[in-house]
Amino acid sequence: MKKPVIAIDGYSSTGKSSISKVIAEKLGLIHLDTGALYRGVTLFALQNCTNEDGTLDFEKLFSSFGDIQLEFKNDHGELVLYLNDTDISKQIRSNKVSDNVSLVAKQKEVRDFLLQAQRSLAEKGGIMMDGRDIGTVVLPNADFKFFLTASIDERTKRRYAELLSLGIDADEQQVKQNLIIRDKIDSEREIAPLKQAEDAIVIDNTTLNKKETIELILSYLKNI
Ligand code: C5P
Repeated sequence: MKKPVIAIDGYSSTGKSSISKVIAEKLGLIHLDTGALYRGVTLFALQNCTNEDGTLDFEKLFSSFGDIQLEFKNDHGELVLYLNDTDISKQIRSNKVSDNVSLVAKQKEVRDFLLQAQRSLAEKGGIMMDGRDIGTVVLPNADFKFFLTASIDERTKRRYAELLSLGIDADEQQVKQNLIIRDKIDSEREIAPLKQAEDAIVIDNTTLNKKETIELILSYLKNI
C-alpha cells in the first residue's frame, strides 16, 4: 500500500517542523521542512545578489537559480541542509535570514523554482511536509492536512528559546516583531498565501506542549 502524504501548515513558530520530524520518524515517513528551502534561497540571495545599498537584487537572484543547489544530507540521523556543499543549517536561522525570507518567498519566480522539487519528493508517498502552502498549493491532494496556530506571545517565547539554544543572539521584542511581520507578508501575498486548507484539521497549541501536540496529531493518524 502507498504510504501517506501528510501536509502541515501554519503560523511561524507553532512547532511545525520539530513536531513533523518526530511524527515522521515514528511513522517511517520522510520529513521535509520547506521553510528551510526558502531560507536557503534567501541566504544565497544575501550572499550573492545584493544591490550596493544592501537591498536584495531579485532580478539577479532569478537569473542565478542554476547556481543554487539545495540538498538535505543525513548527518548521524539528522537531516542537514546544504547549499552548494556547505552546511547552512545554522546560518538559515540567523536574524538576517529571518528578516528577509518572507520578501524572498513572496516572489513568484522563487515559488516556481521550489514548487516542482517539493512535488516530486512527494510523488512516491511516505512524506510529511511542513510549510505555509502545502495543503493548499503544493500537495492539495494530501491524505491528511493539519493547520497549526498559537498565540503570538507563546510563539515568541518558543522562537526566542530556540534561537538562544542555537547560540544566536536574540531580543525577545524583535523576535515578536519578526513573527508578526512575516505572518502578515506570508498571509497577504498574492501567490500561495499562508492559509488554512478547507479540509485541514486545525490545532491551536497555545496551551499544548510539543509532546501533547504530537499525541493529538498521532490520534488522527492512528489508522495508517
Ligand atoms: O517555516 P519557517 O518559519 O522556517 O519559514 C520561513 C519562511 O519561509 C516563512 O515565513 C515564509 O515566508 C516562507 N515559507 C513559504 N512557504 C512555505 C514554507 C515557508 O512561503 N511552504
